[in-house]
Amino acid sequence: MDRLAIEGPTKLEGRIGVSGAKNAALPIMAACLLGDGPSRLLGVPRLNDVETLGVILGGLGLYCSRDGDALDCKVVDEKNSTAPYDHVRKMRASICVLGPLLARRGEAQVSLPGGCVIGPRPIDLHLKGLKALGAEVKIEHGYVMARAKELRGARIYLGGPHGSSVLGTATAMMAATLAKGRTVIEHAAVEPEVEDLAGFLIAMGAKIEGAGSHRVVIEGVDSLQGVEYRIIPDRIEAGTLMVAAAMTGGDVTLEGARIQHLDAVTDCLEAVGATVEVAEDDVRVRGSGRLGPVDVTTLPYPGFPTDMQAQVMAMLSVSDGASVVTERVYPERFMHVGELKRMGAEIKQDGPTAVVTGVEELSAAPVMASDLRASAALVLAGLVCKGRTEVLRVYHLDRGYEKLDEKLRSLGARVERISE
Ligand code: EPU
Repeated sequence: MDRLAIEGPTKLEGRIGVSGAKNAALPIMAACLLGDGPSRLLGVPRLNDVETLGVILGGLGLYCSRDGDALDCKVVDEKNSTAPYDHVRKMRASICVLGPLLARRGEAQVSLPGGCVIGPRPIDLHLKGLKALGAEVKIEHGYVMARAKELRGARIYLGGPHGSSVLGTATAMMAATLAKGRTVIEHAAVEPEVEDLAGFLIAMGAKIEGAGSHRVVIEGVDSLQGVEYRIIPDRIEAGTLMVAAAMTGGDVTLEGARIQHLDAVTDCLEAVGATVEVAEDDVRVRGSGRLGPVDVTTLPYPGFPTDMQAQVMAMLSVSDGASVVTERVYPERFMHVGELKRMGAEIKQDGPTAVVTGVEELSAAPVMASDLRASAALVLAGLVCKGRTEVLRVYHLDRGYEKLDEKLRSLGARVERISE
């Protein structure tokens, strides 16, 4: 298992490109199951999660081959509609094959993903959407077994206890593209990744209106074609690098970031005293001196992203004053708190709320990555510590950040990957 050794403190400086969005690429790869011909996806990041989904899709007869940053996806065989536990347990997002399989092949058996370190990951909204479209859905032996001779358009309300569901909306949207008649999804998720998936489906020939709003209307069509499509830039990777630049007192320009997807992160950085400047597709972030406190509450888009909560908590650990961080999307997503405390952070957590009191400096220590964004937070903390921080189990980081260690090195960080 690889680990990262970080020698701090570092000021990050320079220019760096933003990779394609993991959370757009994954459902779009699954949507390739719907097409009649091959699709070519551009800007697909090299990530373990992309590879894992590639293996699952391979088992389902969708052959994916990489050519630089492009992924060619072609259905070669439609006999198998089962996504097995062995693969699905590695990545909860594998559930995104359920909708396309059912719509295209009339049946799907997908292992239930189970919970994970960021808390329970229910899929009731996915199943609600498919049932509304007329599918027969059962849970048997740990699998979702879905079947439908024909899906029929319907009005579907997809609000859950924590707001809308990103992949739940994707499931209903993908299934509805080939259903008979009109589907209206109310309380749809409005994340840019949902809009990007809709953009891909529309390019394939789907009739979708309103993606990016809470009401999405889909007129079913008879068939969809394979197409070439470019994935949007990863707003969470961009946000992570923005926070890294601010908290190290650095000066970093991100190339190809979409600032309109980063309003909440920008607002937070400006509130703590960092400077964010935009020139066309470039976003420049500068931090100078001590940053200040800010209260952050995670919410569905366009609110502050839960996928940035851990990284911002690392920043607030070394900002002046007390900040309150409230997690409303995954109320148990606080695995990084214990590790940040091992580095000397002062954090008091009570349920979904954590009070972070900034300390003068963090102290380098060996720490354990527990999930993707928590790992990023620990790497960021390592950048501002004096001495050597080792982040163990970086495979979590490799699931969702394309070569983060290389990118940080190119900005002047002393980060070494140690392979065992
Ligand atoms: N929820 C339900 N029922 C459902 C589905 C979700 O109650 O059927 C709840 C969840 O428990 C959570 C909330 O609704 O409290 C939002 O979950 P959502 O369904 O939106 O999450 P997701 O679609 O499974 C995606 C991202 C996550 C990101 C969340 C929230 C992908 C592949 N994953 O997950 O990304 O945190 O949206 O924005 O798109 C990450 O990249 O590190 C990551 C975890």
